[in-house]
Amino acid sequence: MQPERQSWALVTGASGGIGRALCDRLLQAGWPLLMVARRTGPLAVQLRELQSAYPDGQVAMLALDLAGEAAASILADWCQVRDLHLGLLVNAAGVQAFAPLSEQTERAILAQIQLNLLAPIRLTRALLPFMDGQSQVVNLGSTFGDIGYPGFSVYCASKAGLHQFSQALGRELGPDGPRICLLAPRATDTDLNAGGVAALNRAMGNGVDSPQQVAQALMALLKGGRRRYLGGPERLYVLLNRLFPGLLDRVLGGQRKKILQFCRADTPADTLKEPQS
Ligand SMILES: NC(=O)c1ccc[n+]([C@@H]2O[C@H](COP(=O)([O-])OP(=O)(O)OC[C@H]3O[C@@H](n4cnc5c(N)ncnc54)[C@H](OP(=O)(O)O)[C@@H]3O)[C@@H](O)[C@H]2O)c1
Repeated sequence: MQPERQSWALVTGASGGIGRALCDRLLQAGWPLLMVARRTGPLAVQLRELQSAYPDGQVAMLALDLAGEAAASILADWCQVRDLHLGLLVNAAGVQAFAPLSEQTERAILAQIQLNLLAPIRLTRALLPFMDGQSQVVNLGSTFGDIGYPGFSVYCASKAGLHQFSQALGRELGPDGPRICLLAPRATDTDLNAGGVAALNRAMGNGVDSPQQVAQALMALLKGGRRRYLGGPERLYVLLNRLFPGLLDRVLGGQRKKILQFCRADTPADTLKEPQS
């Protein structure tokens, strides 16, 4: 008799604010877990901490630049060699530049499109062979994937693409395929929000969630929950933006100058972190 294949969870952006909180919850729930992020150092520290917090858990790490074309096949090989079943793929790695388009560098534009949009598409395609109808894919979108917001044009474009990819693929794979979910957090207290974004959120009185709240929402989604957009006001704005985009044009038009002031506080525009080991 063949031994039963283990069902693993794979989380990208595992060492980020939301990723780290989610890894904790997944290990608590008993998932064998592969954590992926770009830099080795923070991942290795996190691996040791989680191994000591969950001595009976199974957790591994792989440091990989997901913006590169080869990343998806490297991860597929990782699954192939271990003959594992992938029960869960969470595409959480992401970057964001808060700057007017005219000040966004080519590198910042490419990084946002490659990591936020192309990487989840490539990764999902490469890993589908290791999934079945019981598997789930969760893509971390954003309120900004629905609402175009000044200072975030490229980030919004990348997340809007991810939202449509999730919906289309879910419909394409149908009821017998893996469940494809989108989770769209509102502002969350992590390193993603560099100084200017955090200051903007404070000045505008925007609600900010903790990474643990996002991880909790994701766990609820995995259990069949249907709540995809976090934050009551944000859910309403998303709906209003769909039904009455002109209304949001007026509201955000009135706030444009103030928003762009915070945006400029982050210039020179390339707020993306350089990789460090
Ligand atoms: N924070 C928010 O307000 C917010 C709101 C809505 C949606 N989201 C979305 O939620 C997700 C997680 O965000 P977060 O706030 O947790 O971000 P974060 O704290 O900045 O973490 C980002 C993660 O992505 C990894 N990463 C960055 N570049 C990478 C690359 N080229 N290859 C592989 N991994 C890379 C980082 O690893 P290294 O540090 O090693 O590079 C880190 O683990 C993102 O998709 C984000 O767009 C966040």
